[in-house]
Amino acid sequence: MLAVIGGSGLTQLANLDVSHREVLRTPYGEPSGAVIFGQICGRPVAFLARHGYGHTIPPHEVNYRANIWALCKRGALGIISVASVGSIRSDLKPGDVVIPHQIIDYTWGRKSTYHEGQECKVTHIDFTEPYDRLLRAQLIAAAGEVGIAVSSSAVYAATQGPRLETAAEINRLERDGADVVGMTGMPEAALAREMGVPYAAISVVANYAAGRADSRDGISFETIQGVLHESMGHVRTIIERMIDRGDPNCS
Ligand code: HPA
Repeated sequence: MLAVIGGSGLTQLANLDVSHREVLRTPYGEPSGAVIFGQICGRPVAFLARHGYGHTIPPHEVNYRANIWALCKRGALGIISVASVGSIRSDLKPGDVVIPHQIIDYTWGRKSTYHEGQECKVTHIDFTEPYDRLLRAQLIAAAGEVGIAVSSSAVYAATQGPRLETAAEINRLERDGADVVGMTGMPEAALAREMGVPYAAISVVANYAAGRADSRDGISFETIQGVLHESMGHVRTIIERMIDRGDPNCS
């Protein structure tokens, strides 16, 4: 079963033939909302809205541990994370779809591991490649098959939010090597790795990052909403194609 975590702009999968919803409890508390189970192209899919179904949970208050735990314990063989991002690079325009390959984590104070507490042995995970190589390849192949152009490599900077960045912070992220910026990519990716479940991200550029291009003097939230609405349709099409291909993580 493939699991999809939807972010801003993707609070439901329109093409999901829903069978039921489950409110799940975990040792880490409650997930962002009920997990919705159903089928796409006859294959099982689970969906969870990261910010809750009323979009009420801000990035720094998402219970990432409960979300990932719930999806993995209910049998997710792969997790696709959908999120909006700001673009630091001038050639990545609002509306573009990006499949990042690396992460820089600037978040702080989030519960970011399952391996803590007095009874837990010190445990490390390899995170050299934070996204699953095969799952990324499947997303890129699916996008190619449906004729949707995607940028197949980008360094994702995970910031704390909920405020957007300053122009100087964006300059710093660029110097660090980041291409796009978002607030929810971490610790989600690391938790999935701790659970041993393949995880990849597909991001929609909602805006130029602070101080860049038409965000030179500020970021327009109205423009962001319009862009997301249109481009999340592309994301749905790509995910549907990936599931229809019958890739191993989608069975
Ligand atoms: N910064 C951080 N997160 C975001 C942005 C941004 O500019 N746009 C969408 N998510």
